[in-house]
Amino acid sequence: MKIDGTAFRSIWVDETDHWSIRIIDQTKLPWALDLPRLTSMDEVAHAIRAMLVRGAPLIGATAAYGVALAMRHDSSDANLSHAVNVLAATRPTAINLRWALARMELLVRSYPPAERVQVAYQEAAKICDEDVATNRAIGRHGLGLIAARATAGRRVNILTHCNAGWLATVDWGTALAPIYMAHDRQIDVHVWVDETRPRNQGASLTAWELGKHGVAHTVIADNAGGHMMQRGDVDMVIVGTDRVTANGDVANKIGTYLKGLAARDNGIPFYVALPSSTIDWTIRDGLSDIPIEERSATEITTVTGRALDGAIATVRIVPKDSNAANPAFDVTPARLISGLITERGVCSANTAALAALFPQAA
Ligand code: MRU
Repeated sequence: MKIDGTAFRSIWVDETDHWSIRIIDQTKLPWALDLPRLTSMDEVAHAIRAMLVRGAPLIGATAAYGVALAMRHDSSDANLSHAVNVLAATRPTAINLRWALARMELLVRSYPPAERVQVAYQEAAKICDEDVATNRAIGRHGLGLIAARATAGRRVNILTHCNAGWLATVDWGTALAPIYMAHDRQIDVHVWVDETRPRNQGASLTAWELGKHGVAHTVIADNAGGHMMQRGDVDMVIVGTDRVTANGDVANKIGTYLKGLAARDNGIPFYVALPSSTIDWTIRDGLSDIPIEERSATEITTVTGRALDGAIATVRIVPKDSNAANPAFDVTPARLISGLITERGVCSANTAALAALFPQAA
């Protein structure tokens, strides 16, 4: 997608040295466009852990380049295992991380050490290119759902949670890909953007990227969505996901489940957009089997923003002696989901429908 007219992906190999990895530091958005270089596997692990890069597909792609950087340093079997273990431990919920690492390890290990650097860079680039093509296909399938609601002269209001836009992937995004395509085809779309406490990925990232692309949007408090739905101000919900079970349960950013409940109560379609690399075919019960990341309580007790004097400031908003808990994801059961938008089409959230779309993987 474009930033002020210039095409960007969220990750790329540096154009001058041809080996270091460039990312957009998402902790600095929307205040600054900072494009750091990652030069080692440890720097990649830090970037994922500290959420300079985030979003399920993007952390998978970044980890793949982490393996390439590790091989550049030492292409032995032992270092390959070490890199995969360190990178896999960075974040627990998004399955794309493990999917990308398993793919990288299997391939890279099958080559002699002298060839591993080249193979690893090529495979990481392939993962990135495939992600872009996959998200474009998700966009095309989701576009049909939006277009079906765009009766003449009527704006389509779509609610989304967290950031499942191009910043969460290599390009296009998952939940936002259909929205970008609808906008590009002159369909009048407007997005209700949940701010998404505690880290505010909606307010800081989704609002930023929609604004850069010229898509009409309004940021709302996380608690406002149910009210908007009751008033008839939401036509559909589209969210992304970090892991989908074989029976269609969906783990996504904390707060998604409440939107699913409110959508069901108000008869509003609730869609989840995902690449097939987000499906964990090994598990069937999202509530008991998906590991939910617990993040630092500081994300709850503080808020970071730009002060009126222009400085970026972090302020405490909770009494100093109060405890805080920070589960980062929740699970929306398949029964609340109207459809899964995948690169192969839209299907119901159940075992048979998923298996019919992806028979080999299932
Ligand atoms: O903790 P994050 O920011 O990595 O979580 C990402 C999300 O939950 C996104 O909303 C998402 O749906 C998955 S990425 C397309």
